[in-house]
Amino acid sequence: MSDRRVMIAGSGGLLGQKLAEVFRRESEYEILACELSAGNGLVALDITDRQKVMDAVGAFKPSAIINAAAFTDVDRAEVERETAYKVNATAVGYLAEAANVFGSKLVHISTDYVFNGVKGNYDETSLPDPIGYYGKTKLAGENVARSHLDDLAILRTQVLYGFAPGIKKNFVMWVLEKLKSGEEFPVVTDQVGNPTLADELAFAALKVVQRDARGLYHVSGFETMSRLEFAVKIARVFGYEGAKILPITTDKLNQKARRPANSSFICLKAQTELSLKMPSVVDSLSLMRQQMKHAGVI
Ligand SMILES: NC(=O)c1ccc[n+]([C@@H]2O[C@H](COP(=O)([O-])OP(=O)(O)OC[C@H]3O[C@@H](n4cnc5c(N)ncnc54)[C@H](OP(=O)(O)O)[C@@H]3O)[C@@H](O)[C@H]2O)c1
Repeated sequence: MSDRRVMIAGSGGLLGQKLAEVFRRESEYEILACELSAGNGLVALDITDRQKVMDAVGAFKPSAIINAAAFTDVDRAEVERETAYKVNATAVGYLAEAANVFGSKLVHISTDYVFNGVKGNYDETSLPDPIGYYGKTKLAGENVARSHLDDLAILRTQVLYGFAPGIKKNFVMWVLEKLKSGEEFPVVTDQVGNPTLADELAFAALKVVQRDARGLYHVSGFETMSRLEFAVKIARVFGYEGAKILPITTDKLNQKARRPANSSFICLKAQTELSLKMPSVVDSLSLMRQQMKHAGVI
């Protein structure tokens, strides 16, 4: 088996696109980029189809599988519970099972939503206690992967943002849309976390594969801030100086899913073991701005 074959599940999503980019750019990996439906050079793979997962892994025999596929709509996960569980937990088991059979490493992406958000400053030894269904499914996914496989790395991340073509709206894209409209818009002051540029998380996954790292890692930006503080930085970097952003609190939003109030991470383990140096939020946003300019969307 080649030690440079990487299979990416969920390649059409934000992180999936960044993973494909980073692995193609930084080294000479042979990539199999999979997505729910085929197109744009992506191979169709529904990770909830156990046989198809087994067949795809068996045919490509990757040295590493990176799972960026997920049911990521936190509010919809409260109502579409069966589908959310299938994608975020059961299917992770299928990937782990196939990885075990064919001798691949699995790098799985998880979330800060496995925590209740009461204390913040969570590290890899902190006890998970999800308060919403999405977080429960993601925690189940971590556990099911562990039950099948030792050659496993789980990267928990949070407030993931970035630019890539055709992706779902992330927080930064939503704020930019509002800023462009010139209208006043509300942003919460009581949800606190560490914004993470997807390009940086993809780079962390590359390091995990290169170093053959195993275990649990918290990977996020190093700055902790409220969504409002983050929105103000976005406005500044993208040149909307006079932006009208209204501070509000989460209880006014009527969201279906409860969210952890402070799910900030300590990422010392990733910094030390993977030699990760995360850039500041302002530098990360500036890079995203350059990418959007280059793509002609701003
Ligand atoms: N976004 C955040 O703030 C955040 C925070 C913490 C952790 N994470 C985690 O980071 C990872 C990547 O997130 P992201 O923001 O890149 O998500 P994303 O943009 O929503 O990408 C997820 C991709 O998975 C695909 N997918 C869904 N169901 C699938 C299935 N059954 N089989 C194959 N592919 C399927 C989606 O396709 P469709 O679009 O067609 O459904 C989408 O392309 C996820 O594990 C997520 O839980 C995200």
